[in-house]
Amino acid sequence: MAEAANESNFLTRNAAAKINLYLHVTDRRQDGYHELDSLVAFAGLHDVITLEAAPTLTLDITGPFADGLTSGPENLALKAAEMLRQATGQPQGCAIGLEKRLPIASGIGGGSADAACVLGGLMDFWRIDPKSLDLHGLALELGADVPVCLYGRSAYISGIGDEIIKAPALPPAWLVLVNPGVSVSTPEVFKARKGSFNIPGRLEGPPASAAHLAEFLASRYNDLTEAAIDIAPVIGAALEALKETEDCLLARMSGSGATCFGLYEDSGAAARAGAEIAQSQPGWWVRPAPMLDDARPAKE
Ligand code: C5P
Repeated sequence: MAEAANESNFLTRNAAAKINLYLHVTDRRQDGYHELDSLVAFAGLHDVITLEAAPTLTLDITGPFADGLTSGPENLALKAAEMLRQATGQPQGCAIGLEKRLPIASGIGGGSADAACVLGGLMDFWRIDPKSLDLHGLALELGADVPVCLYGRSAYISGIGDEIIKAPALPPAWLVLVNPGVSVSTPEVFKARKGSFNIPGRLEGPPASAAHLAEFLASRYNDLTEAAIDIAPVIGAALEALKETEDCLLARMSGSGATCFGLYEDSGAAARAGAEIAQSQPGWWVRPAPMLDDARPAKE
């Protein structure tokens, strides 16, 4: 959920963490990309993007995970801004601020969420008519996860991430996100995946409660789990730690890892589970957060 302080020359937006509640790999295409079927939701945890009027495009990165990133043209947030500027012939620049609060290369959207947030933010900041360009196509060019981050609501994704269908309303639920301090490379995880392909696993209808959602999800899976654990065995320990917490309805890895999530009925259960894991693993990144059905910025 992004609050926005829009005073025409300054805008702030939240880039929410994306969670793959399940992720099935259904095929592999000739170009090496994989066809997916996934249910995506968002978490009430985010990086913060600020946009400020400036003559040129610049990026300044701060926050606890700033060190792992460079602010050069290869940064996805800056790339997103440059692509949008070129696609629209926008003459102005923008000083982009990125407060990196979420761990990088960690399966929860990260760079994709930031890029989507910059795209959506600049559309408003520069007052670009959405009908004047193919924003979805631009998002996909930046990365397979960028379109769903731009969509910002719970959704099924298929294709390589380019086909997005609104998911049934998800019930109130809480998450505990656990990153055991490792980054894993998405292409490496996809490459290391073994075994046959899975079938799509869409739910039969809107789950009535967090427990009902967990029941649905129990027969679905994240097909990248074993490959990620082969690369970084500590991911298996993170999953075990979540499973062992009281009231954990489901424990699973998100995206290509390494971040895992536990699903809980309410904030109290998530807070207790988070505190327990943080105490036994002080070096891990552990955060309870509500699951969000809609992470889009509030209408100004
Ligand atoms: O699109 P993005 O740059 O995020 O993807 C990173 C890498 O992950 C791709 O180069 C590809 O190796 C792998 N990938 C894939 N199938 C997808 C998404 C990503 O094989 N649907």
